[in-house]
Amino acid sequence: MDSTLTFRRSCREGVCGSCAMNINGRNTLACTKGIDELGGGAITISPLPSQPVLKDLVPDLNNFMAQYAAIQPYLQTQTPEPDGEWRQSPEERAKLDGLYECILCACCSTSCPSYWWNGDRYYGPAALLQAYRWISDSRDENQGERLDALEDPFKLYRCHTIMNCAQVCPKGLNPAKAIAEIKKLMVERKL
Ligand code: SF4
Ligand code: SF4
Ligand code: FES
Repeated sequence: MDSTLTFRRSCREGVCGSCAMNINGRNTLACTKGIDELGGGAITISPLPSQPVLKDLVPDLNNFMAQYAAIQPYLQTQTPEPDGEWRQSPEERAKLDGLYECILCACCSTSCPSYWWNGDRYYGPAALLQAYRWISDSRDENQGERLDALEDPFKLYRCHTIMNCAQVCPKGLNPAKAIAEIKKLMVERKL
């Protein structure tokens, strides 16, 4: 109602991820968080933590988005393109459940203490969940290269399983589990 207050929003139904902010101490999507869920009384709203603030409730997410770009979030193949679509069995497709739903709202990364401290070098839960989404895709043929790119003391290994990420994700995803799966693949390929 205050037209001088600046904040991002677009879809108003928890799909675009742009209205993420901290409400009563917890990162969440403003559009899907009901006032009746907040227990009455004064409500405190602040920008997502740890990121530079451009204005009011608008954080600067350039670093966050650059990290997403760095994991190369698109299908990579070497074999010649098929005549039709790249095929995938229902079982292979099911492996992407719990990963593809991420809306890149940044609630998880900006609630992660490791990301607060090392956000310039640690990729954070959102980018790593997305990395695992492509590593898990049966159609992608660059799993080894993708793992090579994450084999770094900071990009991946700053996750200390604090689990804030899974607690705040408004889509009910578990980035910590995805990170653990990447670490497991790192070990398995050395055996
Ligand atoms: S589990 Fe890892 S990514 Fe998630 S909040 Fe903790 S340190 Fe961050
Ligand atoms: S994993 Fe969840 S909290 Fe993190 S960016 Fe994706 S949707 Fe947002
Ligand atoms: S406005 Fe799109 S998620 Fe809230």
